[in-house]
Amino acid sequence: MPDICLCLTAETMAQNNALFRQYRSHVDMVELRVDLLDASEQENLRADPKAGVSDFHGVDSILTVRREVDGGHWKGSETDRIALLKRMLSAGFTHIDIEADLPGLPDRLGIVQSARAAGITVIASRHCMDSVPADLDTELQRLSAIGDCAKIAARPTGIADFRRLLHAARAHAEPHVVLGMGSYGVASRIMGHAFGNLFTFSSAADVQQAASGHIAPDVLQTLFAHGKTGSVTRYFAVAGDPVAHSKSPEYHNRRFRADGLNALYVPFRVDDFDEFMELARELPLSGISVTVPHKESAARAAATVNEGVTATRACNTLIREPDGAYRGVNTDIEGFLSCIRDRLSTFRGATVLGAGGAARAAVYALASGGVPVLVCNRTLSRAQTLVAELGAILRDQGQSAPLSAAALPGDGTELGVYGDLIVQTSSVGMHPDLEGDPIPAYRFGGTETVYDIIYTPPMTPILKRAEQAGCATVNGSGMFDAQADAQYRLFRTVLP
Ligand code: ATR
Repeated sequence: MPDICLCLTAETMAQNNALFRQYRSHVDMVELRVDLLDASEQENLRADPKAGVSDFHGVDSILTVRREVDGGHWKGSETDRIALLKRMLSAGFTHIDIEADLPGLPDRLGIVQSARAAGITVIASRHCMDSVPADLDTELQRLSAIGDCAKIAARPTGIADFRRLLHAARAHAEPHVVLGMGSYGVASRIMGHAFGNLFTFSSAADVQQAASGHIAPDVLQTLFAHGKTGSVTRYFAVAGDPVAHSKSPEYHNRRFRADGLNALYVPFRVDDFDEFMELARELPLSGISVTVPHKESAARAAATVNEGVTATRACNTLIREPDGAYRGVNTDIEGFLSCIRDRLSTFRGATVLGAGGAARAAVYALASGGVPVLVCNRTLSRAQTLVAELGAILRDQGQSAPLSAAALPGDGTELGVYGDLIVQTSSVGMHPDLEGDPIPAYRFGGTETVYDIIYTPPMTPILKRAEQAGCATVNGSGMFDAQADAQYRLFRTVLP
């Protein structure tokens, strides 16, 4: 399993030593970023190099003085930087990171030779701050010829670049660390196992991150199965865009750990879903959660789908079958119903606000539960289309709950029996639209049950108004948990 390397990014050695002590039980190695120390601390190290490692007992330590062009903060000259690195070779570091980006200058002014002579492991590194180079394979070979460990940190600009990084890492037999920077690279920091990486870099929470996408050591160890005790045999993922704030990685990894399973769940920012499915087959991914905006693409990508996916044309779960094909399931329907199932028979009718994918799942869930539904949308024609399409599908399935369409209710609108349950599925009121209310003029009578499927924030403006009017309210957290639980149970079916 990849070791966890804590990047020490503070301005003073005292702060760095404190960070090390704080995370000691979670890390296998540290990287001292000398370029981030303030000038007087750098001067101290020049005078007394051993002060740089004196506190890092029992773990490997990397000496790094990163240039600005590589994302570092070194302000001095290149001559001074090389001189400082050379001087610090006697400090007791086990590793040294040397930027090997200058073709024809493999041994940066004799450092590699001196480091080797001192028994220090040389990490030959290349940083590409805004792209992934085309020649990854030859570049890794070149780096391995220079140092003991080849390191490439490059910034993927989409899932295709991520795949190229993975292919190059897997094809390279020599010791290496291949990392993707930025939001499209986060998964490489979490699934270094699949890349064959020796270690992964992490930064303490709440301090300056050494590079974008870093995760705190305790999270890497406990949630993402890194470090000496980690072990991973199966991969799962969530695919979406944005995905950074998804609660799913924490939810599923916690459950895998609690059940003692060697499975790892990884978030992927996905721009191109077909490209992502190629990656899924290569890794392979045993199960995939799919979120906005890829649920319809997932429904098309699945080899087989269940009734719920056919009806909603949206798939939030893909399960890998033994023959490698993916089966599509929609657990949003079950998740949606779980919060109101015990009350379903009391609703004489329901109003669904919105006519997008989320509305489709809610309308299908309610109608197949026998509840007549009025679909209200800002764009009436979309509501009418949804009603016509779902109506036909429900009839094909032998169900006959009446569906109708209307504009959004305003001041004075009487919803009648359709007011028993009002379901809010539009994006209005969702973070960051914290003030939004899709029906600001509609006056609640107090007898309605109002269900907003949004879970961030937990209390949306429409729910607040409904509560003040005396209505029963339901927010989206229960739906999230229930669809995630249903998904987890599906994931368990493909684990040994
Ligand atoms: P999803 O698939 O997640 O449901 P979607 O297909 O983009 O997302 O649908 C978003 C829903 O929110 C639509 O019903 C949209 O109404 P339109 O069909 O008229 O676009 C609704 N919506 C978005 N912004 C809105 C706003 N400011 N007021 C009212 N409805 C809004």
